[in-house]
Amino acid sequence: MEHKAYTSFDSGFLWGAATASFQVEGAVKEDGKGLSVIDVMPKNPAITDFSVAADHYHHIEEDVALMAEMGLKVYRFSIAWTRIFPKGNGEVNQAGVDFYNRLIDALIKHQIEPLVTIYHFDYPQSLVEQYGGWISRESIEDYRAYAEFLFKTYGDRVKYWLTINEQDHVVRIPSRLGLTGEDHYEQLRLGYQANHHMCVATALTIKTFHELGMEGKIGPAVSYSMVHPASSHPDDILASKDAMLIKHNYLMDLHCHGEYSYSFQRYLEERNFTPAIEDGDLELMKKYPPTMLGVNYYFSEAVRAFPATEEFPIGYQKKSLLPEAEAGVFEVVKNENLAATDWGWEIDPVGLRLTLRELYDRYKLPMIITENGIGAYDKLEDEDIVRDDYRISYLREHIKQVKLAINDGVPMLGYCAWSFMDLVSGRNGMEKRYGFVYINREDFDFKDMRRIKKDSFYWYQKVIASNGEDL
Ligand code: BG6
Repeated sequence: MEHKAYTSFDSGFLWGAATASFQVEGAVKEDGKGLSVIDVMPKNPAITDFSVAADHYHHIEEDVALMAEMGLKVYRFSIAWTRIFPKGNGEVNQAGVDFYNRLIDALIKHQIEPLVTIYHFDYPQSLVEQYGGWISRESIEDYRAYAEFLFKTYGDRVKYWLTINEQDHVVRIPSRLGLTGEDHYEQLRLGYQANHHMCVATALTIKTFHELGMEGKIGPAVSYSMVHPASSHPDDILASKDAMLIKHNYLMDLHCHGEYSYSFQRYLEERNFTPAIEDGDLELMKKYPPTMLGVNYYFSEAVRAFPATEEFPIGYQKKSLLPEAEAGVFEVVKNENLAATDWGWEIDPVGLRLTLRELYDRYKLPMIITENGIGAYDKLEDEDIVRDDYRISYLREHIKQVKLAINDGVPMLGYCAWSFMDLVSGRNGMEKRYGFVYINREDFDFKDMRRIKKDSFYWYQKVIASNGEDL
């Protein structure tokens, strides 16, 4: 809808940018850090691994100085669990604790609010070896105890906490659960069990947060985006609703309402995916919901109905990282109305406004955008210039929609672009760049790791200085 008058961003709006430990830090074996599932997963010979990344571990002063120059109000980063507890539980590694103390202190010195992700994909490998990791119930207490340690250690300076990043991706990406083997359906079954444990662990962590009298807010960072019907045919509309349920809402319903919705229960039962649930689990989730949501948004999708056939019976899935087609439910199709990135992600700024509205309608929590950005083949030109006008345009259009969502009445705490600096993309190495700051390295040539401000750096600096007026 249009409005008669539009308000500006609140003066306390948190303008920020984000990263994740394993994608920027490097130094994976330094100063006592233990191995994570990311460090041991099978390497793709075509792209770099995460062992050096942006070498942020050795550049934090320089990197934070750049954040300050840009004017960031908030910096979202994740703590590598295995720097703090190399084995995931047991002994603390003081060198790891000190590293994040230095980072947090440097941020505070520059009046940059730290926004801490407790766990962003880099699960301790030792916990997988000890008891199977998230698929075992033992994982719940280890996560809670780790989070409690962080609250007690950094809570005097950190007010905003994200519990688990993109849990739905962890559930569906076997290597991130430390699972091996080839049986897709068995991995999914285990994934839903892991999902349940992560939800209980999140609720217990939020309980601990309250019991410790922590100030501030806490909640998950969720990957959530609209799934549009490909047409106005009622079957496609039903397919889009079902896709929203099994991609996104199933998880939000657990986190925020402590329930497996009636239709999701049926979905799980019919596929033998129903997890073991203990008495009190759902009550715990109901009692300790998040107090804010982090929203990761990159693209929207369009789907049409995918009727089951003899060849593709109910439950058949095109095996892919994320659900793209499931017989009897939906199939992702190209949205002819939208342009796409070089990796085929359909660019849909209005979809962000719709997403924020949908989330607020359903869950009524204040939100912060924890990731939003465009991966691109940036080119470093002579005199250290990177002309990333496509990034500026992507971010501008999305920020405009955040403003419109605020005008619709959605409470937004802030906006973190992905990413502050170039980092190793989750699936595409260094060639897919996201940052405001160019890191001078390639997949297999570390060059000099020089930090170079892209055009988007100067643009975002102005956006922040004008509190979102100068877009
Ligand atoms: C999100 C993750 O899924 O998307 C990030 O939280 C990731 O870690 C980002 O980098 C973009 O995905 P990709 O695969 O392009 O790096």
